[in-house]
Parts: sequence; structure tokens; C-alpha cells
Amino acid sequence: MRKKVIMITGAAGEIGQALIDEFAHSEEHELLTLDLHPLPERLHSRFTHIQGDILDKKLFARLVTEFEIDTIFHLAALLSTRSEFAPELAHQVNVDGTLTLLQLAAEQSQRRGEAVRFIFPSSIAAYGLPDLTIKARDFYVREWDWNYPTTMYGCNKLYCELLGSYYSQHYQQLARTKPVMLDFRSVRFPGLISAFTVPAGGTSDYGPEMLHAAAQNKPYACFVREDSTIPFMAMPDAVTALLHLWRAPAAALTRRVYNVTSFSLSAMQFRDRVLQAFPEAHITFQPDISRQGIVDSWPAGLNDEAAQEDWGWQPAYDTQRAFDEYLVPTIRQRHAG
Ligand code: SER
Repeated sequence: MRKKVIMITGAAGEIGQALIDEFAHSEEHELLTLDLHPLPERLHSRFTHIQGDILDKKLFARLVTEFEIDTIFHLAALLSTRSEFAPELAHQVNVDGTLTLLQLAAEQSQRRGEAVRFIFPSSIAAYGLPDLTIKARDFYVREWDWNYPTTMYGCNKLYCELLGSYYSQHYQQLARTKPVMLDFRSVRFPGLISAFTVPAGGTSDYGPEMLHAAAQNKPYACFVREDSTIPFMAMPDAVTALLHLWRAPAAALTRRVYNVTSFSLSAMQFRDRVLQAFPEAHITFQPDISRQGIVDSWPAGLNDEAAQEDWGWQPAYDTQRAFDEYLVPTIRQRHAG
């Protein structure tokens, strides 16, 4: 008998670590985690971790003989800034890697006669606004607005959303008998901020970098202008969003891709929040023209009404709670320790 598991790719990344922490609280599910890197020591647990590459098809062929994959949280990706330095590699990891897993999920759904749930974090990078006037006018974008990404990462995310919908609804549409399809669900995240980890290679990273630098008493030069505004979310809410969408009954969902958000801040407002907690912090603004262009093309806010209506999405952390109850005390404690 194959062991029934939830597979998490990119498990050693920021979202992966937070998600594993959440699953570690209960005995209900077995996890199969996968990453190029080992998991940090504190996450070593009863779960099976495979150190491997999502482009390694032989690895997956072996894994499906041992495990019945019930759900996939496919988190592995190269983020937006890193992807601009290596666009072809980004395409391989972000698109080819996703395609491999969609195929695997499609085969597994047919083999066991029950849909594999495929949970995919997408991003504000799927949007591309043409200029700052329109960005200010269309502050809270809806899912179907401005789907013109300007980064390789954004293109990859948008296309993989479409692939996920295709595999869920139209895969093998010319076959005589309709196969059991996988069940693809995706959230478009704003910039995520964790109290435990710092992101690597993203363009919304100036927020978390500013905060973590301040807590360590290090000066920080922010790479975007003071007025640059994007939506953010505290990591516990990101995990809640993934888990709620995963658990939602299929009949409740009217879309496959949902915006989710918590609060929007300009870089200056972000700095002010950091200064309230760490008054000695030395934060300056030294915009990098290329990364600025990316942030300018991202929306200032997200309209997440569909997620609220369909699966009861509500963030627990607004700006104040995120900083005062989660980020600042946790980061302070970590660095004091
Ligand atoms: N945080 C991501 C990035 O900056 C956006 O989804 O690339």
C-alpha cells in the first residue's frame, strides 16, 4: 500500500517553512517535502524530506511508486528579481517544473479515481500596470484586470495559472471518456513578510529587509522610492489563505485563481512603522531604476472580494496587528536571543 501524503515543493523556502510548521501541529497528515536544500534543523520531524530537483522526472517516477499523493502545495519557484538575471532558468523552474507536477497530479487523479488538489501560490507579479496614474486610479485590481506582467516571473505565474485551469477542466478533452481531473486552486499573494525568514531574490523584499535590518541595528538603503506602494501580508495569513483554499469544498469555488491581501503601504509608510518599533534604525532611499520599474508595474492593492465570498477569506493581521503583535515582538525576541 502506498502511503498517502501531502507533497510540498520548495519546502525549505519562506512559505514552505511556515506551512510545515502549521502541519507539524497535528498528527492528521503525513508530509512529503521536497527542496534542493535540506530543511532547517528546527523542522526535522516525522515527515519525509527529499533533497532533489523539481526538474528531475525520474525522481517523481520513483516517488509515485512509494506514495499516494493526495495534495500538492507547489511552492518551488525563482522569485522576480532573481528571474530577471536568469530568465531561461526561471522559465525551466517556474514553468517546466510546474508542468511536470501538473502531469503527475493528472496521472495520479486518474489512477486513484479522485482529484489531487493542487495548490499554487501566484503573485501580484501577474499584473502589469502601464503607469503610475493608472496604478493610483485602479488601486484595488480585480483578478482579470491588467494581466500584462512585465517580468519573467510574472509571465511564468500567469501562464501556470492558465495551465492549472487547463489541466483541471480541459485536459484530454478529446478522449472518449472524461478522465478524473486534478483540482487546481491558486492565490495571488501580495509581498509576504515573515518574522522568521528573509526572502531571497524577490522585488517586494525591501519591506522585510528594512524590518530585519532595523532589528539587527544595520543600516538599510531601500531600493525603491518613498511613494512606491504595493500590498503586503504577514506570513501567518499567507499560510491561512493556502490552507483555507485547500480545504474549501469544490462546489463553493467560482474561480480557480483568487486575489488575497491584507494591507497596502508605501515604502515611506513601511519605514515609519519600522521606526516606531526601532527608533534608532537608519533607513535611506536609494532607488534602483530597474527594480523600481517592476514595483511601479505592480498594483497598489488587490481586490479580494471573490475570496471573501467564496471561501470566507479574512486576514487576521491588519497593519497594526502585523507589526505590533507578530513582526516586531517576534523579530525582537529572535535577535535578542
Ligand atoms: N514577493 C515576490 C517577488 O518579489 C512577488 O510575488 O518576487
